[in-house]
Order: sequence, then structure tokens, then C-alpha cells
Amino acid sequence: MLKLPGLIDPHVHVREPGQIHKEDWDTATQAALAGGFTMILAMPNTKPPIFDNSTFDAAISAAREKAHCDYAQFVGAGPDNAEIAPSLAHKAAGLKMYLDSTFGELRLDDMTLWMPHFEKYPKQYPIVVHAESRSMAAAILFAAIYDRPIHIAHVSLKEEILLIKAAKERGIKVTCEVCPHHLFLSEGGIPLSPTPSSLQGIREKGKGGRSEVRPRLAAQEDVDALWQNLDVIDCFATDHAPHTLEEKDSETPPPGFPGLETALPLLLTAVDDGRLTVDDIVQKMYTNPRKIFHLPDQPETWIEVDENAEYEIKAENQFTRCGWTPFEGWKVKGRVIRVVLRGRDAFKDGKVLAEKGFGKNVRE
Ligand code: DOR
Ligand code: ZN
Repeated sequence: MLKLPGLIDPHVHVREPGQIHKEDWDTATQAALAGGFTMILAMPNTKPPIFDNSTFDAAISAAREKAHCDYAQFVGAGPDNAEIAPSLAHKAAGLKMYLDSTFGELRLDDMTLWMPHFEKYPKQYPIVVHAESRSMAAAILFAAIYDRPIHIAHVSLKEEILLIKAAKERGIKVTCEVCPHHLFLSEGGIPLSPTPSSLQGIREKGKGGRSEVRPRLAAQEDVDALWQNLDVIDCFATDHAPHTLEEKDSETPPPGFPGLETALPLLLTAVDDGRLTVDDIVQKMYTNPRKIFHLPDQPETWIEVDENAEYEIKAENQFTRCGWTPFEGWKVKGRVIRVVLRGRDAFKDGKVLAEKGFGKNVRE
């Protein structure tokens, strides 16, 4: 039995308000506990997006009523809210800036829209950027110009991890996260899901359908570069982005994978394979996210893992509402058997024991 600190996932799409047919604060936080996470940071690309006081309060009141684990909520950077966002900084997980296109409406195309956010959002609170490839290079330049920390979400490419390494070596205040799906899947690597015959032929292997995700699954060379630069990776984050199977198998599949319940088993399997250490997991899923996002201690909180339990990942055993996983049928080694959150058994032997509303907002 392995005892680890309660894990922190800094990148979760809870989908409430607005899309609770995919997930809500109830199911997302049950999935979190089942995956060994005792704290999640929720992204703001909900419907409506979280960008002002009233949308922020709507998300938080749903969380207060339903969350089974601890949490904080990001505020999103929009074209018109650079004045308002800083007033939410003390109660937000951080500011999320979408600088490339993805799921939802929040997106800042023009760099003149980035500037007021970099100028005004208080430096002691984190800015997280969705910025791929050359947008990432621009975001790093912004961090240097405005002399403030940024955290780069879901790094997936060799050129990106090498650029972050170079930026860190020059003292630019940049940290980053990598998602398990970019470590364990490459383009074409997702087991081909049943493709409706109407769509056959318009989907290349690894593209479209269930494989849709942003950033996209990358080439094997990119995946290898991430593994070769583990020391540059500050955090493992799931980017848990649930969409239903019906949506994923439709003609317009939205991008995103669920990830809360598969991250730790996959990473523990990599430990068993000698590609990672338990200490890497603790650093990147507890110590570093706590430091980067200035998160409080959760007293009397830990998880217990049976590192020898071997089993197959199955969507039917998951708590997420979305009903699927890109890792269906994968054999893993390492199972969460108990989660103790603030002195209480929150998850044990496959059952969530912490009731709805037990989760606390760590920014309150
Ligand atoms: O694949 C993704 N899905 N990438 C994102 O950046 C957003 C996410 C979502 O919200 O579905
Ligand atoms: Zn995301």
C-alpha cells in the first residue's frame, strides 16, 4: 500500500453551469475523488462562460451545493472584462486566457486584447494560458515583457517543451503542465472507436470522432520529447473535458477527453514500467500545483493506493457522466483504494463517501 498526499488537478472542465448533461459539480468531484484528487481547479469555459461577478457566483453556488471534494474556480479572460477580472482575483483559482481556438466562446484573438489582462491582473495570482505553438511563444514573450508568471496549459509538442525549457533557463517566470493523454497517446494512437458508417472515409486515423482534443494528439516524436523532458514539466493535469459519447460520435465531435479517473492509474503504470518515479507524481500532482497556484494545505488529507492491483480501465466503472474513456480496455497497475479528505473517509473501496457539499472552496 502506497500513501500519497491528496492530489491536485489544476485543469478540470466541470461543465456547470450550462452543460450538465456532460458533467456537473456532483459527478466531476466524485470522479476526482475516485481518481485520487482531493482538490480540483475548474475552468471557466462553461455556458455562459465565467467572466464576471454574477457568472462566477453561479458556478460557485452550484459547487457549494454539490462538490464532494475541494475546489476553486477560474475566471475567464474575455475581450471586455480586463477591469472586472482583477476584482475577482482573490476568490478565483486564477485567470484563464484562451489564446487559441477550442471548445466554448472564450477566445482572445488579437494581442491588443491580451495586453490589458497582463497589465491589470494582480501579479501574485496565476494566469493560465491555452497557447499552442507560436501563440505559446508570444505568451512567453508577454510573461517576459510584463515580468509576471504564467502557467502554460497542456503542453503537447516538442517545440513547446523545448521553448519552455529555454525560457526557464533565462529566468522567465513560466511553468507548465502536461496531460496524460499527450503522454500515453499519439496521433493515430487512440484505439479506433466505432465510426458511424456515414462518417467513414472523412475521418483519418487518429483524427476526428473520439480522438478530437485540443491540443490535438501529437506525433510520436513529440510524445517522446515530453518523456525526455520530464524535469521541465511542472505539473500533470488531466484537462478532464467530458463530452457524451453521442456528441463524440456525431458529425461535429467536440474536442476533449475525460481524464480524472485514469490519470493516476496510467502514471502509476508508468512508474511500474520504470519511466517515472512516485516522487515525480508527488511533485507534479501535489507539491508544484500547490506552489504555482498558492493553494492551502488540506489538513489530515491523503490517499491510499494499491500499487500492485492490476485491472482494465472500463468506462462502466467511472463516475464521470460522459460515459466513455479513450483508455477503454487498457491494462493498468495501481488502484486508489481510499481517500481521506480533511479527516473524513471521502472515498473507499470504490464508493464515494463524502456527501454533496462536503467539498470546500479553497479560496474562501
Ligand atoms: O480538448 C479540449 N477540450 N481542449 C480544450 O482546451 C477545451 C476542452 C473542453 O472544454 O472541452
Ligand atoms: Zn482545458
